[in-house]
Amino acid sequence: MGKTWCFILVTSLCLFAFSDGRELKARHTSKLAQYNHTLATILVEYASAVYLSDLTQLFTWTCSRCGDLTKGFEIIELVVDVEHCLQAFVGVADDPHAIIIAFRGTNEHSLQNWIEDLYWKQHEINYPDMDDAMVHRGFYMAYHNTTIRPAVLEAVERAKKFYGDIKIIATGHSMGGAMAAFCGLDLTVNQQEKNVQVMTFGQPRIGNAVFASLYSKLVPNTIRVTHEHDIVPHLPPYYYYLPQKTYQHFPREVWLYNIGLGSLVYTVEKICDGSGEDPTCSRSVSGNSIIDHMVYYGVDMGSDEPGICRIVMDSYVMSTSIRDLRGNFILSRDPATPLLKLSREFDNQEKTIDVD
Ligand SMILES: *[C@@H]1O[C@H](CO)[C@@H](O)[C@H](O)[C@H]1NC(C)=O
Ligand SMILES: *[C@@H]1O[C@H](CO)[C@@H](O)[C@H](O)[C@H]1NC(C)=O
Repeated sequence: MGKTWCFILVTSLCLFAFSDGRELKARHTSKLAQYNHTLATILVEYASAVYLSDLTQLFTWTCSRCGDLTKGFEIIELVVDVEHCLQAFVGVADDPHAIIIAFRGTNEHSLQNWIEDLYWKQHEINYPDMDDAMVHRGFYMAYHNTTIRPAVLEAVERAKKFYGDIKIIATGHSMGGAMAAFCGLDLTVNQQEKNVQVMTFGQPRIGNAVFASLYSKLVPNTIRVTHEHDIVPHLPPYYYYLPQKTYQHFPREVWLYNIGLGSLVYTVEKICDGSGEDPTCSRSVSGNSIIDHMVYYGVDMGSDEPGICRIVMDSYVMSTSIRDLRGNFILSRDPATPLLKLSREFDNQEKTIDVD
């Protein structure tokens, strides 16, 4: 209570990295994203809502985390990849007037294992058509090699047909942030979208320095919010003495941390430099907290129900035959009609039903 937001705009004019000479110098810093606090507090609500598991409430945007700053959001598609335990939605918001794509992170049940894996396992693949740009295979595949990508791209097309060429914003928390970044890059590189913005919360590192540099050139309008001692942005670890091998964050980080005494605590929002690895931001502290990972801007970033894979799974879905053999499903809506289309993954056996 009595928590006050306090903005400290640390706009670094000197965007060249640091004097120790070991950091890779940041390039292409001129067009970096401007941080907008109001926008961040809106987007974090989408990144939080995508964790919820009540299909009907999500689809009608009446869930406990829907409303408030996201009132009036028109959901167009909800994708649930049961096989890989992934969930995402696409919709259109009034403010910001944009197509919003939100990706869910790893469920809490397996968060501990997931974090441990990030320390040790870095199976890498080459990002297609980008020489020497190596990325984390698991995160790449979660977006590119599951039900998620085709469903998201198709929903974006459907939204654009109805709403025109409006801005597209991808957001997500934790692994959902990694997927949002891959989505933003995919929309820019493969779909030739010009107006793409990405904002992630508690996102892990997803690629090497070459990748980070290419990413920030291609999707400059990206903000990567980190919080206090949140462990996840520290992973996979940054190997200081292996600058060519280490994973590196892309800019622009905004680090949230608290200062104050007793009941007078202020949250500082520190806007970090253009390097992606500002040593005075989250890297200035040790990443040792899962609790700090679970809350951003005072918003709960976990799932709402206990369970193994807490995805949308209510009787409505269970009773219809929309799921494929692997249990994946896509729930979509044509913005022009009040009908819901439930479709099987990758086939044309769409079944149209009335929602109300
Ligand atoms: C920040 O974002 C909010 C919410 O979309 C918007 O209303 C406001 O105009 C933005 N401010 C600036 C300076 O762009
Ligand atoms: C993509 O996923 C399919 C099925 O889940 C799997 O068989 C295939 O090996 C994956 N592709 C790659 C390149 O890993």
